[in-house]
Amino acid sequence: MPQSLKGKHDHGPLKFPDGFLWGSATSAYQVEGGNIHSDWGDLAGLACDQYHRYKEDFELAKKLGHNAHRLSIEWSRIEPQEGEFDQSEIDHYVKLLKYLKKLNMTVMLTLWHFTLPMWVADKGGWENGKTVFYFERYLKKIIPYIGDYVDLWVTINEPGVYIYETYIERVWPHAKKSLWSQIKTFLNLASAHKKAYRLLHQTYPAGKPVGMANNIMSFESFHKHSFIEQLAVSLNDFFINHLFYFLTRGTHDFLGINYYFHVRFKHKGVTPLPDSRLMQTHDISDLGWEVYPEGIFDALTDLSDDIPIYITECGIASTNDDRRNRFLLMYLQEVSRAIRSGVNVRGFFYWSLIDNFEWHLGFEPRFGLVEVDYETQKRTPRNSARVYSEIIKRNAIPHDLLKLLGHGIRVEDVLKEKIEE
Ligand code: FCB
Repeated sequence: MPQSLKGKHDHGPLKFPDGFLWGSATSAYQVEGGNIHSDWGDLAGLACDQYHRYKEDFELAKKLGHNAHRLSIEWSRIEPQEGEFDQSEIDHYVKLLKYLKKLNMTVMLTLWHFTLPMWVADKGGWENGKTVFYFERYLKKIIPYIGDYVDLWVTINEPGVYIYETYIERVWPHAKKSLWSQIKTFLNLASAHKKAYRLLHQTYPAGKPVGMANNIMSFESFHKHSFIEQLAVSLNDFFINHLFYFLTRGTHDFLGINYYFHVRFKHKGVTPLPDSRLMQTHDISDLGWEVYPEGIFDALTDLSDDIPIYITECGIASTNDDRRNRFLLMYLQEVSRAIRSGVNVRGFFYWSLIDNFEWHLGFEPRFGLVEVDYETQKRTPRNSARVYSEIIKRNAIPHDLLKLLGHGIRVEDVLKEKIEE
């Protein structure tokens, strides 16, 4: 954390800067459906059928007041076989992006969000240095078609999470135990990011900011003065939060931060959740992830540099929507605090617009502002979608809602009254 930010306190109104981007994020494989050429095969099935329902979904986001949207395109649709590009799929994405622009949305496009064409995976995926070349060749093909409709580029999504799930947890395709594979994958993803950055800058010299989305975690030691715990904090912070940026320095016009996790290191192992005393005041998500709003403040102030920051993902899996309301209010309160402390945050993308396919966890986790009934594909905005709209409309966190936090009053009930007034 830069010295200048330390200890700064401000009690002003929780306004966000003018021009702040408010939106939500999705990724192609998780929502589109009918993706059969990727290394995840047919696992997501029809997913949310957004491939056919994109108009409805984008209109919904617009109606909810969003002024920006983050989404990705699916490489395996566009290049299902090596070197064979499917023009009808390129046309599809052009149509879809044009539609977002027609709705006057700022478009943030992710070029790689976890899935690979099967043929790339068969050749070793990101472990294979040649994949960087395949990726660049693919980008050279599609960028001229889609570039005019994109405002902000995210080259790749969360290299660390990809490596963790594939080579450490081993729950994603091509799982295997190999440190060498992890290192090669990390270096190749860094090189893919740099290549994409340069290519995009050659194509759009006048600008169109380019960045990537990194999973940033907030680390803490359980005991303030434990050497081992402090060492664990420092090493994890360096490897997880800073190493990728270090390897790719000079190739980021903004920092894209996905924030979900807070971890405390305890002398004998890790405690992912606070002790029972703290648990009384802290929510957890349906996935057991701790709700720890202060962590996003710490992450933002720790990463703060001289380039803008976008929170490219932040959200909670919960079937208890009032928990999502509290999550939104508390996390955004911390984002606002970071801004008032001098961090240049320019936008927030809630994960996710709609419930979707959560990788190896399937359809059970409900991250959406909008509920999806997978039987009928019916979309129903949750109350939290309205809380979020309210914040967007005022470009501020309403004090009246904030006051209720901690008083055991359901945000939902109060908001209902407000809307009915
Ligand atoms: C992030 C991923 C995103 C989604 C959320 C919950 O790590 O980028 O695709 O799975 O977590």
